Amino acid sequence: MRVLVTGGAGYIGSHTCLRLLEAGHEVHVVDDLSNSSRVALERVATLTGCAVPLTVADVRDESVLDQVVTEFAPEAVIHFAGLKSVGESVAQPLRYWQVNVDSTMALLAVMERHDVRRLVFSSSATVYGTPGALPIDETAPVGVGISNPYGRTKFVIEQLLEDLALSDAPWEFVSLRYFNPVGAHASGRIGEDPRNIPNNLAPYVTQVLAGRLEELSVFGDDYGTADGTGVRDYVHVMDLADAHLAALENCAPGFDAVNVGTGRGTSVLELVAAFERVSGRPVPLRVTERRPGDVAACYADVSKARRLWGWTASHSIEEACADAWRWQQDNPQGFLS
Ligand code: NAD
Ligand code: WQD
Repeated sequence: MRVLVTGGAGYIGSHTCLRLLEAGHEVHVVDDLSNSSRVALERVATLTGCAVPLTVADVRDESVLDQVVTEFAPEAVIHFAGLKSVGESVAQPLRYWQVNVDSTMALLAVMERHDVRRLVFSSSATVYGTPGALPIDETAPVGVGISNPYGRTKFVIEQLLEDLALSDAPWEFVSLRYFNPVGAHASGRIGEDPRNIPNNLAPYVTQVLAGRLEELSVFGDDYGTADGTGVRDYVHVMDLADAHLAALENCAPGFDAVNVGTGRGTSVLELVAAFERVSGRPVPLRVTERRPGDVAACYADVSKARRLWGWTASHSIEEACADAWRWQQDNPQGFLS
């Protein structure tokens, strides 16, 4: 299949491009490189032996998209492009709505003009807001209690896709609700490359291990969880990449939302312990206040992905930590190394 990948130079996009190419698909990436490096795609090309054409453009630029779609004639699109920092979205809500929502509308308009009807969208477990029951399945309420603009953009984009799917046109949409992506490709050649101080736990810990940051702040140890620290569902980015492949190859008419996680909850201290085991180094840490907006625990019911596509996460937390640590050690300055 010819697959247009927006945001394909980013963390999840680059790993997914690699998997798509390994599976025999052809890709064309549109990315403005606002949070990524073209080096990621050069490395994907080296790892796979396949070309990874890149058009550097903002997805909101419909004229460029029109041209790419005319020339590449994609049969499907995976839409990763967007802004993803929860804290930044609170400070710059308009920018988040403009980039995330407008880019999706522009993309859909171009797809409609060219009769490209299959789209896999990067959504997030954040659409569930404060989870009522755990594990969270896809029938859980969405849109209630979302604590930040970033999460609300994901929620409204899902609503937009649902509205289009209800029209007469033959749209095929899968919204993948990622839990917490972690890890890197086992080669150590591509991985997560945050531009500033990381907001997320795993890249923060690897930078502490590497000595780039002094110590980890554990945001609260008084939650009602086994060890008092926050519990999340950490899914290896290569499992996530496989889920995109499965979604793409099994898309059905209409709109469907599918969780992508492992189904297992891991606490902050358990993740830290796994990093200590794989690195053989201690992680200096200090317990601080809870981070505003954080929930105590969040992990997925993953039975739908298994039922629909036979997809299930296969990497352990140790593998994810080992791969993230290898990436950090081999590329101390990320793609600038
Ligand atoms: P990322 O920032 O590494 O990748 C996003 C890519 O989109 C980057 O390469 C960036 O340069 C590009 N981009 C941003 N705005 C663009 C625009 N207007 N036009 C063209 N390109 C643009 O992030 P990621 O972690 O790979 O996330 C990919 C997607 O998955 C995002 O939509 C994100 O919201 C979603 N998601 C991520 C996580 C996570 O924890 N990483 C969790 C749930 C959902
Ligand atoms: C995980 C756990 C923190 C950093 C976010 C977004 C979500 C999705 C994934 C995009 C929590 C604790 C963290 C630190 C800590 N992104 N923590 N010290 O908040 O579950 O999800 O990223 O869609 O939308 O909200 O991930 O990695 O930030 O935090 O103690 O320095 O680690 O409190 O319990 P989160 P995270």
